[in-house]
Amino acid sequence: MEIIVTPNYEEMSKTSAKIIANEIRRKHDLVLGLATGDTPVGTYEELVKIHKEEGLDFSKISSFNLDEYVGLAPLHKNSYNYFMHDNFFKHININMANVYVPQGNTNDPEEFSRWYELQIKRVGGIDLQILGIGGDGHIAFNEPGSSFASRTRVKALYKQTIEDNSRFFSSMEEVPRFAITMGIGTILEARKILLIANGKKKADVVASFIEGPVTSQITATALQLHTHVTVVLDQDAASKLTRTEYYNWVRDNKHMVHKSVGR
Ligand code: PGA
Repeated sequence: MEIIVTPNYEEMSKTSAKIIANEIRRKHDLVLGLATGDTPVGTYEELVKIHKEEGLDFSKISSFNLDEYVGLAPLHKNSYNYFMHDNFFKHININMANVYVPQGNTNDPEEFSRWYELQIKRVGGIDLQILGIGGDGHIAFNEPGSSFASRTRVKALYKQTIEDNSRFFSSMEEVPRFAITMGIGTILEARKILLIANGKKKADVVASFIEGPVTSQITATALQLHTHVTVVLDQDAASKLTRTEYYNWVRDNKHMVHKSVGR
């Protein structure tokens, strides 16, 4: 895992957007896994800026969103589909035929989940998966106890997630209790993973998932089993890590790896 600690939310967003933009420049038909929530809003804003100012081209990429609330229609204001259009898709030149967000109001979520997995396979798998992390340690809606082998499916939301997400709804009762979510197994098949986190409220869970033992009780710890994970944090989210000095040294001296090989 590569840990990049940045001074604040703005720098976290700029750093992560740069990483994503570089991957798109490297492979114009990149398959991008996308996340929702407060955390990636700044990253999407930066990507829109790069698109407008530097002409970053999204026309050939495909995208797959991690999750969606069961029961919400795509145009519902609280749906993740709506969030993605509002914060990202409508501002860039992505081809909407290549955009996939789980359909919250499907009649058959199980069948839909199988179909979603097939679409990911059909395009050759996800090249770069963007992730946030929940207060309970979830990635996508893989709540505590989710199998590390899990695939896209319906998952019941954990109490803390319902409380955390109630800020977007007018009452706690309105927060959906279920979501369609990619599984941990699905996420681990992405070729590269970029997790972003900011704020003091994420400090404990960030320290646990990077430096703690692997456990299905904090599903983000599954990322320790992946070969190419980059974590971009702001100072507050990184504040409970114990090896920050080491991470910073590696960040600033990466170029020396190439020099020392073959010595
Ligand atoms: P947040 O959500 O970005 O709104 O904190 C993250 C998550 O639940 O994955």
